[in-house]
Amino acid sequence: MVASVVSLASSFIAVTSSSSPSYSSSFLTKLRHAPSLRLCFAVSPLRVKKHMAHTIARATLGLTQISPAFEAPKLTFATKEIDVSEWKGDLLAVGVTEKDLAKDQNSKFENPILKKLDSCLGGVLAEVSTEEDFTGKSGQSTVVRLPGLGSKRVGLFGLGQSASSAEAFKGLGEAAAAAAKTAQASDIAIVLASSEGLSAKSCTASAIASGAVLGIYEDNRYKSESKKPALKSVDIVGLGTGPELEKKLKYAQDVAAGIILGKELVNSPANVLTPGKLAEEASNIASLYSDVLSAKILNEEQCKDLKMGSYLAVAAASANPPHFIHLTYKPPGGPAKLKLALVGKGLTFDSGGYNIKTGPGCSIELMKFDMGGSAAVLGAAKAIGQIKPSGVEVHFIVAACENMISGTGMRPGDIVTASNGKTIEVNNTDAEGRLTLADALVYACNQGVDKIVDLATLTGACIVALGPSIAGVFTPSDDLAKEVFAASEISGEKFWRMPMEESYWESMKSGVADMVNTGGRQGGAISAALFLKQFVDEKVQWMHIDMAGPVWSDKKRAATGFAISTLVEWVLKNSS
Ligand code: BES
Ligand code: MN
Ligand code: ZN
Repeated sequence: MVASVVSLASSFIAVTSSSSPSYSSSFLTKLRHAPSLRLCFAVSPLRVKKHMAHTIARATLGLTQISPAFEAPKLTFATKEIDVSEWKGDLLAVGVTEKDLAKDQNSKFENPILKKLDSCLGGVLAEVSTEEDFTGKSGQSTVVRLPGLGSKRVGLFGLGQSASSAEAFKGLGEAAAAAAKTAQASDIAIVLASSEGLSAKSCTASAIASGAVLGIYEDNRYKSESKKPALKSVDIVGLGTGPELEKKLKYAQDVAAGIILGKELVNSPANVLTPGKLAEEASNIASLYSDVLSAKILNEEQCKDLKMGSYLAVAAASANPPHFIHLTYKPPGGPAKLKLALVGKGLTFDSGGYNIKTGPGCSIELMKFDMGGSAAVLGAAKAIGQIKPSGVEVHFIVAACENMISGTGMRPGDIVTASNGKTIEVNNTDAEGRLTLADALVYACNQGVDKIVDLATLTGACIVALGPSIAGVFTPSDDLAKEVFAASEISGEKFWRMPMEESYWESMKSGVADMVNTGGRQGGAISAALFLKQFVDEKVQWMHIDMAGPVWSDKKRAATGFAISTLVEWVLKNSS
């Protein structure tokens, strides 16, 4: 009797959800048309059904649905070598350095491009820059609407003293897209006032392009009303043309698509993005790029078989069951010379558990972002699936779960056993990320990989140390540090290497187990990294990235998509 009620209830849930197409449409609606997938759900179909019904029931808590009309904007890019004064369109955006704004005795620009534009506009640009005290500092901009040119508007965008970083050029693309939004422009051109000194014009163009794609993007999936951006096309002028450059721009767009996915995952609230939903999104990525990606999702039972006691203890209080996600990228055309793993913390919500997050500043209402590491990993997977680098195999690993409170939950003082046999006395249930990563790192090492990078919103201490926009890097390997820092030069993202001070391990000793999960308040990001090191094979090159600060922008009240472009660059550096 009871059983039939249960099955009736779950079939009712299944029917309502499948009759509502908007709900079952995932973040990526294209997925429905995807070719066959190499999925390896190691559960019986019956269990999947019952289990899925359960996750769907929980996921609809609050009745929130992703807007069916939502679609990420599509921009087309063209590269041109033309005289900008002849360009026709809605907005001509000119990137200018402080040097470019130098004027002669007659208060005329010395820079040839500015000079030409200014003469077409009867000197208005020079006047405006003086009147508005526009000096070309990074972040400054001014847009004028004037007759006299083929372009309706001309904007000057400050690049700082002398622009040479990817960050500055991304900023230009973003600022131009923002100005296009304000002006409701549908076609714009972006040009640099001076591009002679640039070492790699194609890198500059791709940084501008990715800035534009991300600048125009707004996550309106959870708003009942939103306006579609008007911007359709972006001409990049004066930075070359040809197939090499086209390839670079395509690459920038692939990475941007990964970043947008990562942002959407982090922005999604915990009532929608449960561990089950995150696993579904991961499987969707694999099925979109099924020529190179395959997905394996382990359920709680299978994780138990693998003895992942540390991870499962964190998941134990939640009504939304854990899902262990493992995507594998295999390069087309031959075996890989190198095997890499990207491991992401995937707490779809972190309440703190019995050590509940309380008091002002604890940010419990933002703890949906505690899967930012996994969003970085899956965003990178999407980009890699599209770019298809050769000679490198990549494993994308996430031990997804939720840190909640209930009668079945882990207690402070419990001793848990990780899959490498090490025992941990949980002296604080809010240090849960490292407990999930412990088993994920052991699993990654068992894949026989050469290098692992893990990413996690791991400690508030790292935000105290480095502020909101810089991630902490912890690694015993100078070589790996070099590789990732070289990648970050291209991506324009900020990382800072922190010490792995072995003497601080003292604070992590337990009287009754192999270790505790938290040391004191001091050096909290370092002791967390030392904890993770206990679960990594010494033969494997490993790096931990604490991205608790940069995962979220308080100013934009939204996810940043942090680390995705750096990870993709790093994987490409390891390809051949
Ligand atoms: N997810 C948090 C870290 C965090 C805090 C990220 C604030 C972003 C903003 C993590 O699980 C956590 O709670 N860490 C504790 C560790 C402590 C108990 C040793 C922290 O940082 O307070
Ligand atoms: Mn926590
Ligand atoms: Zn956490």
